[in-house]
Amino acid sequence: MARRARLILCSGKGGTGKSTVAAAIGTHFSSEGKRVLLVSSDPTRSLSGIFDRRIGGNVTKIGPNLYAVELDVEKIAKMVESEYRKIFIDTLASWLDEEIIEDLPVEILSGVDELFALDKIRHFVERGYDVVVWDTSPTAYTLRLLSLSQKISGAVSRSLGLYVRLAHPLETIKAWLKRKPEPEIIRAFKKLGQVTSKIEKMLSDVRTEFILILNPEKLSISEGKQLQEAAEKYNITVKRVVVNKMLLPCKCRFCTLKRNEQQRNLEVIRKEYGDLKLLTVPYLPHEVISKKRVEEYAGKLFED
Ligand SMILES: Nc1ncnc2c1ncn2[C@@H]1O[C@H](COP(=O)(O)OP(=O)(O)O)[C@@H](O)[C@H]1O
Ligand SMILES: [Mg+2]
Repeated sequence: MARRARLILCSGKGGTGKSTVAAAIGTHFSSEGKRVLLVSSDPTRSLSGIFDRRIGGNVTKIGPNLYAVELDVEKIAKMVESEYRKIFIDTLASWLDEEIIEDLPVEILSGVDELFALDKIRHFVERGYDVVVWDTSPTAYTLRLLSLSQKISGAVSRSLGLYVRLAHPLETIKAWLKRKPEPEIIRAFKKLGQVTSKIEKMLSDVRTEFILILNPEKLSISEGKQLQEAAEKYNITVKRVVVNKMLLPCKCRFCTLKRNEQQRNLEVIRKEYGDLKLLTVPYLPHEVISKKRVEEYAGKLFED
């Protein structure tokens, strides 16, 4: 089996700095000579923005040892649509009662496209990189993605049981008499089951790490909490929290007030995440766009 990369998920509320931290982590490890892939599943294509070049759906070399790809979730959804929907709906329609069909394909298919986005990441993790950094999409989407594999494995086993009880014995006998291959739907179910269990294994592996990116703000903290709980529910290790955009001391009234608020929120974070490693990064007087800025940011992130 190919060697498996360390997988680092960067997660947090929109705008907190997920893409910036992901880019910085990637830049840091690649500068140490590790082969790194940055993967984004956010439709806003922020990696292209940060590195000021079109990255898109194909793995693109963006520096020594550093590669990037922006998953085309819509394209994946289309693939799933053409491959699975037809198999499920057509086959089930010919075998099962209408009542059962009504719930079944919907339950299974909602989320299958996202499942395949996760499976794409799994492929990257097994493709010879040392580190894969996943710049995740906004909170709600990530939460759904994380709960998905469990939901799907439940749906698959329920549907498979149902199918076996209702239609499969007859189909198996027919197939056996005619020496036909295994029905397409059984193969599709089995494949979904396999994909799901491989993803669960990848997420709960010790080489998978979840980094929570927060700003010293109440809303960012509460969304972060939700994400951390979801990650732990799916056995993903959460070790580090980055508190990004901390104001540096300044005498002006605005900065003083804002900084006091930030410090109070930082205290809340310290209490909530006392057992995790906390890294703070200052609010820089410019956006983190361009390789040079990302390197500068990485320097601050990896300071200690
Ligand atoms: N420490 C920082 N100082 C200044 N600007 C920052 C800092 N961290 C992130 N930014 C900027 O904030 C914006 C949002 O960051 P981004 O990484 O795109 O967030 P996310 O991926 O979580 O939506 C970007 O314009 C980025 O350059
Ligand atoms: Mg982003």
